[in-house]
Amino acid sequence: MDLTLSVVGCGYLGATHAACMSSLGFTVIGVDTDPDKVAMLSRGELPFYEPGLDTLLAQEMKTGRLSFTTDFSAIADADVHFVCVGTPQSKDGLAADLTYVKSAVAAIAPFLKEGALVVGKSTVPVGTAQGLRSELATSAPQADLAWNPEFLREGFAVEDTLTPNRLVVGVANDRAEQILKEVYEPIIALGTPWIRADLPTAELVKVAANSFLATKISFINAMAEVCEAAGGDVTVLAKAIGYDPRIGSRFLQAGIGFGGGCLPKDIRAFMARAEELGAKQALEFLREIDAINLRARQRVIDVVRSELSEDLTQYKIAVLGATFKPDSDDVRDSPALDIAAQLQAAGATVVVHDPKGIEPARKRFPNLQYSESVPECVKAADLILHLTEWREYRELDPSVLGPLVKNKIVIDGRNALDRDKWRNAGWKFHALGRSD
Ligand code: UDX
Repeated sequence: MDLTLSVVGCGYLGATHAACMSSLGFTVIGVDTDPDKVAMLSRGELPFYEPGLDTLLAQEMKTGRLSFTTDFSAIADADVHFVCVGTPQSKDGLAADLTYVKSAVAAIAPFLKEGALVVGKSTVPVGTAQGLRSELATSAPQADLAWNPEFLREGFAVEDTLTPNRLVVGVANDRAEQILKEVYEPIIALGTPWIRADLPTAELVKVAANSFLATKISFINAMAEVCEAAGGDVTVLAKAIGYDPRIGSRFLQAGIGFGGGCLPKDIRAFMARAEELGAKQALEFLREIDAINLRARQRVIDVVRSELSEDLTQYKIAVLGATFKPDSDDVRDSPALDIAAQLQAAGATVVVHDPKGIEPARKRFPNLQYSESVPECVKAADLILHLTEWREYRELDPSVLGPLVKNKIVIDGRNALDRDKWRNAGWKFHALGRSD
C-alpha cells in the first residue's frame, strides 16, 4: 500500500487507530506531546488496558511499519493525518475544550506536504471542522481537511476500528472522499456501509449517536424509578420491550447509569453548542437525560442508608467495581467511584475492589481505601455494593463470601448478579428497579 499515515494524539483513540491502521499494512507515525506515553508505545507497551490491543500493538511494532515520536516534523512524509486528541469538558462550563484539537492542527500545519489530507476523528462541536478547514486554507493551503468520526467502545476498540458497523466521512470534495476510500479499502471490502456527508453532518452524527445511547440508558433508568415506586421489575420490563425490533434489547440495562470519557461530556457539549446555535430548546431533553443519570447514583446511596442508617459513620461498605464499565481501566466520570466517594464523604469506611482500575482510581481518589482481592475487600463489611459488572463478580460464590462479612446485604447496582443464587445463600439482595 502506498499511503503513509500519521496519527496525532496517541491516547485511547489514537493508539488504537495507529495500531489498527498499521495492521492494514500502512506505514504509520504516531505523534504525541507526552514523552512518557511515546516511550511506552515505542516499547510496544500500552499505557492503558484494552483487551487485544496490547498484542496488536506489540505485533505491529515488530513489523517496522509503526513508530511513535514527540517530533511533529516526523509527519512530513505522511499523506493522511488523523487527529485523535481529546476534547474534554471545559473546566468552566458544559462546552468541550477544543485547545488540544486546535493546537494539534496548528502543530502539524507547517509540515504538511502538497495534497496532504488532515482527518479529524476527535468528537467536536458542530462547526469546528469548517473553522479548522478555513484556518488551514491560510496556514497550509496545500492541504485539505475532512472529518471522520469514530464510534469505538472501550473494551471493543480493535473490533470497532477494524470491523465498524459503518464508516462516516465528512468531506468538502470528491478528492478527500477518494483518499479516505483508499485508506479504508480493506474495511469497505468487508461490506461496511460507507456514508459520505458534509462536514457539519459528520460532526453531528457522532454526538447524535452518543445522545441516543445516553437517552436509551436514561430511559430504562427512568423506568427503573417507576418500577420501584409501583412494585414492578425493570429487568422483566426491559426484556419485554426489547423484543420489539424497533426498540431493541441492547443498552436497556438499568442500573447506576452511564459514565466514561464520552457519553456524559458529549451530551453536555452538545447542549452547549445547540444553545450557541440558537437551537437550545431542541436539546432541552438531554438535560433531563443527564439528571436521570446522576439521580441513579443517589438512589443507590438512598438504599444504602435505608439498609444501614442515615448516619454511616459506623459502617464498612465494600464496593465491587471502580471503572465506568467492565473490561476497561478507565475511571473517568465513573458512577461506581462517584458513589464510593460520596459514601466515604458521608462518613462510611469504603473499601474498593476492581480487577483493572485500582491504580487509575487511586490517582483520582487517593483517600479511598483499595483492596486487591475480593475476600479482603468484603471482610467484615456491613454491606456489599456491586457497581461495575465485571465477569469475576458474576462468578463469585455468595456462600463463600457469607462467612467473611458482618451483614449479608448486597446491592446490585448493575442488575447483573444472579438474585436467586445470592438469596439462596442467605443474602438480603436489592437491585435498582426491582422492588422485590
Ligand atoms: C461510548 C459509545 O458506545 C461509543 O460508540 C462511542 O464511540 C464512545 O462512547 P464507551 O464510553 O466505551 O462508548 O461505553 P459504552 O459501552 O457506550 O457504555 C457507556 C456507559 O453506559 C457505561 O458506563 C455503561 O456501564 C453504561 N451502560 C451501558 C448502562 O448503564 N446500561 C446499558 O444498557 C449500557
